Amino acid sequence: MKSPLPRDQRHQLPRPDADALAHSERLVANIRNAIDAAGGWIGFDRFMDMALYAPGLGYYTAGARKFGPAGDFVTAPEISPLFGRCLARQIAEVLRETGGSVLELGPGSGKLAEDIMAELAALRTPPEKYLLLEVSADLRERQRERLSTHSEYSRMHWLDELPRDFTGVIVANEVLDVLPVHLVTYQQDWAFERGVALDATGAFMWKDKLIESGPLVSLAPGIASRHFAGQPPQGYLTEISPQCAAWTRTLTRSLKRGAILLIDYGFRAAEYYHPSRAGGTLMCHYRHHAHPDPFHLPGLQDITAHVDFTAVAEAAAAEGAEVLGYTTQAAFLLAGGLAALMQEVDASDPARYLPITTQAQRLISPAEMGEFFKVIGLGKGVVTPSGFGGRPLPL
Ligand SMILES: C[S@@+](CC[C@H](N)C(=O)[O-])C[C@H]1O[C@@H](n2cnc3c(N)ncnc32)[C@H](O)[C@@H]1O
Repeated sequence: MKSPLPRDQRHQLPRPDADALAHSERLVANIRNAIDAAGGWIGFDRFMDMALYAPGLGYYTAGARKFGPAGDFVTAPEISPLFGRCLARQIAEVLRETGGSVLELGPGSGKLAEDIMAELAALRTPPEKYLLLEVSADLRERQRERLSTHSEYSRMHWLDELPRDFTGVIVANEVLDVLPVHLVTYQQDWAFERGVALDATGAFMWKDKLIESGPLVSLAPGIASRHFAGQPPQGYLTEISPQCAAWTRTLTRSLKRGAILLIDYGFRAAEYYHPSRAGGTLMCHYRHHAHPDPFHLPGLQDITAHVDFTAVAEAAAAEGAEVLGYTTQAAFLLAGGLAALMQEVDASDPARYLPITTQAQRLISPAEMGEFFKVIGLGKGVVTPSGFGGRPLPL
C-alpha cells in the first residue's frame, strides 16, 4: 500500500527554499478547496492532475527546473544524443515510405526534437514539418528558446491540439507515465477507489470509496476476472488508467498513415496485474530521489505510474492500428543501429569514446534503462521499422 513517507524519511529528502515551499502551499490550498467542494473526497486521478497540471502551480505547468542534473530526474534524450539519433533512424525508415511530418508529444526540454531533427537532416530525410504538442506553456517557451537557433527551426511548429489525418511519425518519450491514474484496491469481494481526503489537521490522507459509478465500474472487476480469476489478493492495490487508453485512442484516430512510437517504463498487462505487484507502481521524483509519497510537496515533484502496454495496444487496435512491435529499449536501440553510431567515434580517443560508452551503457544496461523501458510501435499502412527486429516481447 502507498502511504505518506514517515516524517523521518521526509527529512532525508532535500529541503526546498522558502519560495518553492510557498508555491507548494498555494497548490495544497487549491487541492484542499477542491476536496471540500467535492464533499470531502477526490479520486487520486484528480489529485495527480492538479499536482502536475493545475494552471500556473502544477509540477509541469509552473516554472521549476525538472530535467537533467539540476532538476528532479533524467530522461533518455538528456542522457545522450544517441537516443534521439537511433530514434531518428527509425523515423526515417517510416518517412521514406509515407512522407509527411513528425509530431512529438510532451517534448520536455526540447532535447529530443533537437537530436531527431539534426539526424533526419544528416540522413537527408527531413520531415515536411516537425510538430510539437506540449501541455505546459512554460515548457513550450523553453522549447522555443532552445530550438530557435536550430538549423531546422523553420520546419518546427507548436500545436495546441492534435492534427486530423496526420501522415508520418508520432513520437512520445515518457509521456504516458505522467497521465493521471486512478488507484483501485480490492478488499474481500469488493473493489474500492482509493482517493484523497483531509484529516483533522487538514493534511491529505488516503480514503477508500466503494466503486459505484464511472469507468471503474466495469474496469476494476474486468481486471479482477482477467488476471486473478475474480479474486485479487486481499488488499491488492493497483493503478487503472482510462486516461492512458483514451489518449492512445485519440492519438491513433488522428493518424491516417504512418507510425506511433511510444517509449516508457511499464509492462504488458499479465506482468502489470501480477500478484507480486500488490502495492502498485506509483512513484515520485524529487531532486533525483525516487520515493512513493505523492502527498510530499505537491507541485515540486513529479508523480508517475508504470504503463500497461497491453491496454495501449488494445486502445490503438480499437482505432484501426496494428502493433508494429513491442520490445525493450535496449533491443530497440541495438537493432536500430546504436553500435554503428558509436563506431563513428574514434575508439582510440578515450576522451571522446569513453563518454559515449558510458551513455550507451545507461541507455541499454538491464541495471539501468535497458529492460525497464519499453518501446511500442503502432502503425497504419506501414512496414515494421527495423528497431523492432531484435527481440520482440509478447503483449
Ligand atoms: C516526463 S516529461 C518527458 C519529457 C521529454 N519527452 C523527455 O523525454 O525528456 C513529460 C512531458 O509530457 C508533457 N505532457 C504531459 N501530459 C501531456 C499531454 N497530455 N500531451 C502532451 N504532453 C504532455 C509534460 O508537460 C512534459 O513535457
